[in-house]
Formats: sequence, C-alpha cells, structure tokens
Amino acid sequence: TKIALFASGSGSNVQAIAEAVQAGSVPAEIVLIVCDKPEAFVLERADKLGIPTFAFLPREYESKEAFETDIVSRLRAAGAEYVFLAGYMRLIGPTLLEAYRNRIVNIHPSLLPAFPGKDAIGQAFDAGVKISGVTVHFVDEGMDTGPIIDQECVRVDSGMTRDDLQKAIQRIEHSLYPNVITNLLNGNREDYNR
Ligand code: GRF
Repeated sequence: TKIALFASGSGSNVQAIAEAVQAGSVPAEIVLIVCDKPEAFVLERADKLGIPTFAFLPREYESKEAFETDIVSRLRAAGAEYVFLAGYMRLIGPTLLEAYRNRIVNIHPSLLPAFPGKDAIGQAFDAGVKISGVTVHFVDEGMDTGPIIDQECVRVDSGMTRDDLQKAIQRIEHSLYPNVITNLLNGNREDYNR
C-alpha cells in the first residue's frame, strides 16, 4: 500500500515508520513526505532515507484551500492511498478531508480526549496525572477529535521529569504507530470502525 507521511518537526516518528517499512514489518511504501516547514529536520531524514518530499510554505499560498489542493494533486500523482500525520502541526481542512475521507490518521502524545492540542505532554505533566500515553486516531475536522483507533498508556512515576515523560511517550509512539499502520493496511479493522 502506498502511504504518505506529513510532518512539521524532527520527524522521529517518520524515521521509526520508515525503518519498520525497510525492515519489512510494515506492508507499505512511503511515496511522499509532506512538510509545511522547509527548515524542519524531518526533510534531512527523508533525504537520507531516500524518500521524496514536498516541502511548502503556507504563506506563499492564497489560502489553506489553495495549498491543500496542491497537496492533494501531489498525493494523487504519487499514488498515495493513506495519509499518516506524524507531528504535522496544522489542522486538516475540508479539501484534504474530502479527498482522503477516513484515510487520514494522526498520532497524539496523550490519552485523548484528555489534553488535545499543542504541548500535550507538558499539559499532562503540569496536570500531575499519574497515567498518560499515546493515541492514534482518524482525523476529522476537529483538533485531535476523530475516532480513536488505538492507545497505549505510560505511568508517570514520582520523580519523573517532563523530559523523562517525553522520552517514555516517544518510545511508545515509535512502536505503536508502525503497529497500527500495519493493522490498518492489513484490513484488521474490526475495532477501527467504532
Ligand atoms: C509526536 O509526539 C506526535 O505525537 C506529535 O508530535 C510529535 C512529533 O514528533 N503529534 P516527531 O517529529 O515525530 O519527532
């Protein structure tokens, strides 16, 4: 299955997914990495991994509809069937949602519906929760609101710093996301349609 990944930052999830693809454990081909920040480190990773990229500056377009129309045509040209967001710091608009209905998935570093939005790890840490985690969900028009596909939890032990929590969450993300992608692409979707 041909998939595209969207990222805005470091791209550690992109790296983990790409390595799982290379190792043969995710039955996919990453045909495009879309990035809205031309200076993001994920683009260096993509070059090293030999994956094509589309980097763009939103402000060079008239509107979100305009850049999403461009993204959709590049996704179609690359043959992408699914989109996986991995730290793409932008709400998906109607143009992309309609083109890839039920085929856009996101990973979020909290147990949704707790702590949606930016800096979920910091929000959870500041709230003093004893359990947090990672959520993978289908994307809808809201902010981190679509149907949940899978979750994994992390205990916040006493003495843990914000940084420790971030590391623990990232470690889980890097195994959970490739697993969920594999299940989704293999059609093991019975709990994925709630
Ligand atoms: C991850 O924590 C992801 O859950 C969130 O943004 C972060 C991206 O990290 N949506 P990276 O760029 O994959 O390292």
